[in-house]
Amino acid sequence: MVPLLIIRDLVVEFDLGKGALRAVNRASLDVQPGEVMAVVGESGSGKTTLAFSVLNLVPPPGRIAGGEILFGDKDVLFLGPEELRKYRWKEVSMVFQAAQNAMNPVMRIADQMIDTAQAHGKASKGEVLEKASELLGMMRLEPSQILRSYPHELSGGMRQRVIIALSLLLGPKMLILDEPTTALDVVTQAYILDILADVREKLGLTMLLLTHDMSIVAKLADRVAVMYAGRSMEVGKIEEIFYDAKHPYTIGLIKAAPSLIGDIADKKPIPGSPPNLLNPPPGCPFHPRCAHATPHCQEEEPELKDIGDGRLVACHNWWLINRDS
Ligand SMILES: Nc1ncnc2c1ncn2[C@@H]1O[C@H](COP(=O)(O)OP(=O)(O)OP(=O)(O)O)[C@@H](O)[C@H]1O
Ligand code: SF4
Ligand SMILES: [Mg+2]
Repeated sequence: MVPLLIIRDLVVEFDLGKGALRAVNRASLDVQPGEVMAVVGESGSGKTTLAFSVLNLVPPPGRIAGGEILFGDKDVLFLGPEELRKYRWKEVSMVFQAAQNAMNPVMRIADQMIDTAQAHGKASKGEVLEKASELLGMMRLEPSQILRSYPHELSGGMRQRVIIALSLLLGPKMLILDEPTTALDVVTQAYILDILADVREKLGLTMLLLTHDMSIVAKLADRVAVMYAGRSMEVGKIEEIFYDAKHPYTIGLIKAAPSLIGDIADKKPIPGSPPNLLNPPPGCPFHPRCAHATPHCQEEEPELKDIGDGRLVACHNWWLINRDS
């Protein structure tokens, strides 16, 4: 199948005066039409920066310094302003991290829906409200009550569902969700994930789900890309990642996630902390924390390689580690 989204060797740098911080460092992944691809990694691993890049919306002082982003027949980094305007929202839309706290507090939800749709070319108010009602219903909300509400009258979970409905207003092919449930309690999280699974089915939507939380990945994703220090470390199907991870960092992430597999008492955090991206270690960026590091790992950065069946791993020693386990 031809992927809907292809990200190849993407490099994004933030110029901080004292040097360039490489937030995304030759990251690669693809997303098939209709699939949910999760991008998982610790805080600062570059998830949000990667998502902004897909919209060609990296904020200054950041800039895309290399690589390629293809969406369908579009070469995203070469779209002109008008093409970009159409691409955002209509082709790909994004639920931003902590978006539920960034709604306009003095505007009713109906007006926020109308404003957004009209800014992107949908003219008739009636048409917008009809579509908004349909989407709010899909979000298991009462449309007429929600449309006349102000954001502060809604709970965090309701606001997040309104934002998801808003992001679907122009019928995008792909929805990017950046930590969509992080600020919510566990019950609300599960409810929203259930709704997202439902919506994905009904609309045949493709999703890019960014999260640090492996349990969210398990509930929604088909495949997972594991990011570390701006790089893709491993990409595989969900069952491969959870039950047969090949990369030492992925193995560490799974062991650090409580109650996913096995006993909660076995939870083991990965020792050490992510590297300073202004002064990253040479070779494999994970080597200072990796129990399997060899001198080679300190000298040469491993390439992301296909190890068969579309499974991608960036580790010099993956076969050795997995042979012994
Ligand atoms: N506007 C910015 N200016 C400078 N540095 C930035 C900016 N945005 C991100 N960075 C840096 O880029 C790196 C990646 O950040 P990013 O927000 O993409 O990570 P993340 O994986 O989304 O983290 P989190 O899980 O905390 O949301 C971090 O080191 C961060 O400090
Ligand atoms: S390349 Fe070396 S340091 Fe990096 S993950 Fe593999 S074994 Fe560990
Ligand atoms: Mg983020």
